[in-house]
Amino acid sequence: MEDYNLQTLGEFTIEKQNDFKYTSGELSRLLSAIKLASKMVNREVNKAGIANITGHAGKTNIQGEDQQKLDILAHNIFIEALSQREVVCGIASEESDDFIEIQPSKNGHLSKYIVLIDPLDGSSNIDVNVSVGTIFSIYRRISPPGSPVKIQDFLQKGICQVAAGYVVYGSSTMLVYTTGHGVNGFTLDPSLGTYYLSHPNITFPKTGKIYSINEGNYIKFPQGVKDYIKHCQKEEEDRPYTSRYIGSLVSDFHRNMIKGGIYIYPSTSQSPNGKLRLLYECNPMAFLAEQAGGKCSDGEKRIMEITPSALHQRVPFFCGSYSMVKKAEQFIREAQRQIL
Ligand code: AHG
Ligand code: MN
Ligand code: MN
Repeated sequence: MEDYNLQTLGEFTIEKQNDFKYTSGELSRLLSAIKLASKMVNREVNKAGIANITGHAGKTNIQGEDQQKLDILAHNIFIEALSQREVVCGIASEESDDFIEIQPSKNGHLSKYIVLIDPLDGSSNIDVNVSVGTIFSIYRRISPPGSPVKIQDFLQKGICQVAAGYVVYGSSTMLVYTTGHGVNGFTLDPSLGTYYLSHPNITFPKTGKIYSINEGNYIKFPQGVKDYIKHCQKEEEDRPYTSRYIGSLVSDFHRNMIKGGIYIYPSTSQSPNGKLRLLYECNPMAFLAEQAGGKCSDGEKRIMEITPSALHQRVPFFCGSYSMVKKAEQFIREAQRQIL
């Protein structure tokens, strides 16, 4: 029998419950439902190639993007796991036009939490066996308990998040999350189906040597972003940096947080708000990044202070090692100053 001598995710969340005053254990139960759903998605992702669940589902989501079979499967798994356990009163998902209201249980109990989720991030990588992920963000509802959830419950600023995290279905499967007391990473032992605390207290290196951006869009980028890319490529001091872009935000973020780096999905001439969604991609990543000592902005202002106006709202995204994001912002400001 192998002896990891490591704490399990279940043990960890219960221990950390005491960080919160007046805790009812509801958040631990919610995290436990996410943990279970992630193992089910992991199972599906692992057998994707042999189970005829790769490829397009033949539908598009509200954002006009092709839905993959696994997008829908992962969405259904998370919705089921969360709605059957009295752990949330509402869920918003990338794969659902509107938010989903959860009915009170038979004993009338209704949780105070809402979840926003990207059930499967990096869908375009599914068919080619490249890492994909899940991103989640948790808030306390602001409407009165017991009443139906409202859109305002979902349109809260990122700074109001209670917890956020992601699962990366990679060469190993990891769940990384924060409740506002640092960031911790757990690796799944697939033979036991148990997550173990493998990466306690993850911190973003203050600087790094990796920049991640889809350079195929270069000519459509704002001048400040073009200038920053040239800065990354310049032979000077610790540069040129290395370019690494997987095309799964979760995986690109995870690598950068471990090694040090910056991820950018900027506005383009065709998409002035970029591509990534504020509520279930950028805010949870921003919470994690800041908790790990990194930085996250839309190029000008802090992501978590943006007031959301729509569920599927997009936002330009600059995220990573503190000094790298700060530098990128400087280039943006400088380019704007030149225009004025
Ligand atoms: P999703 O699969 O949930 O729609 O997200 C895809 C996102 C993100 O994971 C990734 O970083 C980005 O799209 C890649 O976009 P490009 O292919 O435009 O670079
Ligand atoms: Mn995504
Ligand atoms: Mn997705």
